[in-house]
Amino acid sequence: MTTTQIAPSILSADFSRLKEEVIAVDDAGADMIHIDVMDGYFVPNITIGPMVIKQIRAYSLKPFDVHLMIKDPDRYIHLFADAGADIITVHFEACKHLDSVIKLIKSFGKKAGVAINPTTREEELEYILDEIDVIMVMAVNPGFGGQTFIESQLEKIKKIKEMIGDRDIKIEVDGGINQMTAAKAVAAGADILAAGTAVFEGDDYKKNIDSLRY
Ligand code: DX5
Ligand code: ZN
Repeated sequence: MTTTQIAPSILSADFSRLKEEVIAVDDAGADMIHIDVMDGYFVPNITIGPMVIKQIRAYSLKPFDVHLMIKDPDRYIHLFADAGADIITVHFEACKHLDSVIKLIKSFGKKAGVAINPTTREEELEYILDEIDVIMVMAVNPGFGGQTFIESQLEKIKKIKEMIGDRDIKIEVDGGINQMTAAKAVAAGADILAAGTAVFEGDDYKKNIDSLRY
């Protein structure tokens, strides 16, 4: 069994020192860098876009795990591919034609993920399973860091694990991850944990990251 991969979410970083923060979590053993892109429409918050991602790309060789919380993301996939994203995850709820969006992501040679909100049923992904690399289970309502993990999502993670079967799809859990919830999410079937607050609190990022591995 491989250990859980940790994807620090730079949403909780000090944005005035973004370069140093990316280098710090990279040095601390992050398996990938989780980047939250928000449009102020699909979610009630606005964060960063492809220009910022392109600039920080130079400071880490780790995969960039780009989580698009934007409506109709097909309009911008080319920009995030060009900015250096390795995994591009879109929200089921934000796409008119999910299958086309996944094919578009793949056309740039990127890994494709689909995120589902806490009230979205896992069955929605049944017919796209053979095309995707990551299913991201949102354990909070997307938009902000520092929220409480919604426990009902543990059942969903288990169901998704079963649904995946022997396909090569990773389950990523995003939102409200701390030492307690990390253990539960991994027990339910999570392969990747995106964590903001729990990684960037205090100044020992390595200790924080290691404490989330199960
Ligand atoms: C929420 C974002 C998460 C967020 C997680 O919409 O997608 O990635 O940064 O933050 P924490 O770990 O603080 O819940
Ligand atoms: Zn995220």
